[in-house]
Order: sequence, then C-alpha cells, then structure tokens
Amino acid sequence: MNIRIPSFEAYKSDYQKSIDNPEAFWSNIAESFEWKKPWATTLDWNFNDPDVKWFDGGTLNITENMLDRHLEERGDQIAFYWEPNEPGDANKSLTYKELYHEVCKLSNGLKSLGIEKGDRVCIYMPMTLEGVISVIACARIGAVHSIVFAGFSSNALADRINDAKAKLVITSDGLNRGTKHLDLKSMVDEALKQCDTVEHVLVHKHTHNDAPVVEGRDVDYQSLVDKMDDTCPATEMKSEDLLFILYTSGSTGKPKGVVHTCGGYMVYAAYSFQNVFQYEQGDVFWCTADIGWITGHSYIVYGPLLSGAKSVVFEGIPTYPDCGRFWAVCDKYKVNQFYTAPTAIRSLMGAGIEFVTPYKLDSLKVIGSVGEPINEEAWQWYHREIGKENCPVVDTWWQTETGGIMISGLGSHSPMNPTHAGYPLPGIQPVLLDQEGNEITENEVEGYLCVKHPWPSILRTTYGDHERCKNVYFSHYEGYYFTGDGAKRDKNGMYRIIGRVDDVINVSGHRFGTAEIEDAINTNDSVVESAVVGYPHDIKGQGIYAFVVVDAKNNRDAIEQSVSDSVADGIGRIAKPDKIQLVSGLPKTRSGKIMRRILRKIAEGERSNFGDTSTLLDPSIVESIIEKAK
Ligand code: PRX
Repeated sequence: MNIRIPSFEAYKSDYQKSIDNPEAFWSNIAESFEWKKPWATTLDWNFNDPDVKWFDGGTLNITENMLDRHLEERGDQIAFYWEPNEPGDANKSLTYKELYHEVCKLSNGLKSLGIEKGDRVCIYMPMTLEGVISVIACARIGAVHSIVFAGFSSNALADRINDAKAKLVITSDGLNRGTKHLDLKSMVDEALKQCDTVEHVLVHKHTHNDAPVVEGRDVDYQSLVDKMDDTCPATEMKSEDLLFILYTSGSTGKPKGVVHTCGGYMVYAAYSFQNVFQYEQGDVFWCTADIGWITGHSYIVYGPLLSGAKSVVFEGIPTYPDCGRFWAVCDKYKVNQFYTAPTAIRSLMGAGIEFVTPYKLDSLKVIGSVGEPINEEAWQWYHREIGKENCPVVDTWWQTETGGIMISGLGSHSPMNPTHAGYPLPGIQPVLLDQEGNEITENEVEGYLCVKHPWPSILRTTYGDHERCKNVYFSHYEGYYFTGDGAKRDKNGMYRIIGRVDDVINVSGHRFGTAEIEDAINTNDSVVESAVVGYPHDIKGQGIYAFVVVDAKNNRDAIEQSVSDSVADGIGRIAKPDKIQLVSGLPKTRSGKIMRRILRKIAEGERSNFGDTSTLLDPSIVESIIEKAK
C-alpha cells in the first residue's frame, strides 16, 4: 500500500483536490485498505451535535490491515525491534508473522477471560512488546482499549478504569525506566480497591519481582497465551465502532476519554505516517514516545504496522545510561526516521555535544518533533548535530483529539522554517479565528486555531459524555473544531503554533489541566485553596507553578513536600509542581474569581506591570505574593 505523496508539487495538487472534494479524496485513499464490506457513505457530518461518520456502512478489522495483509509479502520481515532499558540486556524482535501469532494467541486468551466486542480493556504497561501486542489483541476482537501511561498514579488509573467501566486490566509486574524500577502491579492492586467493574487482571512478568497474586482475579499472561491457538478470526467492525479511548486533560474537570473509531482512524494514521515521514519500504522508523500517549498509538502501533514498516520500541529513557542513548540506538538499528519531543532534544542538547560525536547517525533521513513548540535553538541544534544538515526536521502539530498529524512538513518535500510546523496535510483545513470568531483570511496574523472540515481521525466523542465533547471542542466557535491552541500564519501561509490558550499546561509535551492539578493539591488536608499556572521552563517547555494557601503556618518545607506528594498521589509524579509557593491568599476579583493572569505574570518573573488591577479585591495580596515569589 503506497499512499505517499512524491513531491511538493504533488502535495499542492493533492491538497487542492482534498479541499475541492474531500469525499472523493478520502474515498480514494481508503480504497488502499482492506475492508470486509465497502462503505455506503464516505462522509456524513455536522459539527453542531457534533456527529461525524466516515465510511459509514463499511466494515473492517484494523488488525487485518496491520498484520494479515502483510503475511504473504513480508511475513518474515521485522515488524519491531525491542531495545531494553539496560543496553547490555538482550534485545528482542518480532517479524510480522511472529507478531501476528502472538496477537492471535492473546486475542484468544482475552476471549477465554470473557472479553467480548465492545468491552473496555485498560492497558497499564511498560514499553514492552507485550504492551504493543495487548493493544492489537484488543483491536482484533473488537475490545476497546484504554491505555493509561504507566507513570500515572493508582488514583489516576482508578479514575480512568471507572470512567471506562473496564472489565479487564492488562499490566506487568514492574517497569524499568533508567535507574528507576516501579512496582506496577501494586499500583494496579491499589487502584482496584476503588474499582468494581474489573473481573480479571492479566499480568505479564517483565521484571520478575514476585508481585503478589490475587487468586481468582489475576491471570498470568504467559501461562494464558501458551495454552491458546495461534490464529484468531478478526472480528468484523463497523467503520464507526469504537477502536479506543484515550484520556487526556482539558481546562476543566477530570481528564476526558477521547474516542476514536475504526475506519477513519485507520485511514488517517497510515496516510499521515507515510507522508510526514516519507517512509519507504525497508526503512527503520523510531518513535520514542510511550504507547500511553496518542503519539505512541498512532506512530508506534497503528501507522507503522498499517504501512508494513519496521520500527523500534524502546523501553528506556534518553539519558540512561548516558545522554548518548538515543544516538546509540539510532546507530544500532540504522534508524532512518527518528521522532521525538522537544523536551528530550533540549535536555540532550544541554548535556553536551560529547554525547553525540561518538555516533555516526548517517542512516537518518527524516527527524521529527512533536508535543510542544520547538524553540529555535533546539531546532537548529537538532537539524545541525543530529540531522547533519541533511535531514528535514518535521515539526508535527497535532493532538490526542486529532488522532494523527495535522500540520507538518512532508519529509524533504516541504519548505522548512524553524519553529513553524508548516502547512496542513491534505484534507486538513485549519483556520485562524479572531476573538469574535471571524475567520482571519490574510497572512502574517495570529488567532485561535480551529479546523473547519472533518478529517477521518477527528475525535467522535468524549466517552460517556457527548455534551462535554460538544462544549469543549465545538461550542466556542460554531461550525468549527476548536483546538485550544493559538497560532500564527506567516507571509507564506506556514503555521507556527504558539501554545495553549486555555488552562492547559504542556509539561514536557504532556498535557495537564490547571484545575486537575489544583484538585489534587486541594485533597491535602492542610490546603485551603490553590491556583496553578504554567511558566516557561528551559527543558520542559512549561513548568508548573502552584500558589497554595494553607492553614498551618509551621514547617513550610514539610507542607511543600506534602503538597507535592498530593499531586504525585492524585495524578502521578510527572505532574509534580516545579515550584510551590505558600501564600496567605490568592488575588481575586470582587466577585471571587482568581485573577490567573496576575499569577501567570508573577510565575513568568514579572514583578510589576500587571495591567488593569482595578477589579482586585485586595491589592496587598499581590504585593505579598511578589515578595516571596520563586
Ligand atoms: O498545544 C499543542 C501541543 O500539544 C497539544 C496536544 O497535546 P496532546 O493531545 O497530549 O498530544 C501531543 C502529541 C500529539 C496541542 O494542543 N503540540 C503538539 N504538537 C505540537 C504542539 N505545539 C507546538 N508544536 C507542535 N509540533
């Protein structure tokens, strides 16, 4: 299946076609896939409900497109190389045929545990091949997977299990991340004290740490799959049947379950993968994300396998055993396309060039960035030191909700402009809106980034709460999907993403709602109230600054630690505030609303010039916060 655009000229012509007649355009692409039944209607949509249906009437199973269809041509080709956390440990690999059989065995295993089409399965796994196999095994039998990043706390895991009403959890005994070893299974045991929908926990032994077994509930992964047949029919799914739920943070409330469906997601994951990375058969692709994030879903699991690609799955972290690990792995597997996050680039850049020079990096053809704006210095370093000025940098803008890359260069075809994601992929119609919601049509402008026409992998709903989906994404500006980002369009029409315009903080490419962090802080008995804002951070992009009002004044260090622990318990260590300032009160308007604008400025280092403060109830609070600002 080759759906690759061969040149920038072809891109321009395809883009035009995709705008003139989106249905003809996508129907043509969708025909490159295997469907069990052809679709009757290519697209049915309105953004007001919202209601979007792609390829309605069609049936398929995405895993047949990822596995079965490749068996004849490339059954013995590598699908995945697995690189362990410890460089000295044995690496592993799976061919397409081996992967197919492993998936089928687990699919049969899931069925034997009573999992049926439509059931939700929560996957809480380290970066192992069994993690990837678990995802595909769910899709094969039509179970809806909800992967929870194995850095979230047991409380966060419990929330997600409960929201999805998951029937099964697949986990491992433990995980290795650099020098850290986490007892994952005990996190699950802890979470399940708060959950009553889970019937079984399937435990893959990875670290062999003798995790306790709950009789009757826990099932050993290996013993289960060893008993199973190695073929399993793929369940026929409607194009709009659920493929997965992935929880992500918004500006209010608890994380929401973004829902993606089978047909449209399949088409767009493969199309965007092949085009952005200009993947050619035989290339080795490496996306360093975790399968717990959308980047891992679309560009470790689905996009590459749908395209018959060879890719690397990496268990470790960029700085272990030293800051040359990424480059060592690139050389080891002769990686052709490398895809990582600005936060990693910045921290490796900071570590020093001596960690790069021992490596050749001469197999690289395309290097990518994702998750947050990449600053000019990091872009230049990446281009010069890693890409050796030979590789295009694809700065890929997209979101959990978009399912696939929306704005980005296409390999070396597109013009590059550092810090600019660039042009939209075919089928993507971004617009910039002003405050009033009018489209700004000229260039060299800034506005709210929205999309005005559906693309195949747009989110369909937020699980169990369609109204929320409507309110968050489709109500701000009627008739548009609102991204929550602000963007600029330069004189050539290239987009540069500025960042979130809502109360979402992007820390190392991971999204957290300020409200979500405040909720976690407020669970602490000593806390009266809190306000959390983001501030620029050299490595993480944004850091988390928490202003906290506590009722006990003694032992401030202990309180700060306990506030930090509350966040680690409520969400996970990844969301721990970088700065905690204990304050006597928060700046509020007379109507009681926290003036976050002022707190944001203080966090950014501003000590005066707060704009209009006439509505402040008590200006002296601002003075006292500034005095002790960190
Ligand atoms: O603010 C944008 C930022 O990450 C947000 C989406 O986060 P998430 O759903 O977790 O997905 C991250 C991986 C796709 C966006 O709203 N973002 C993502 N990519 C970029 C970016 N900001 C600037 N440039 C990017 N390339």
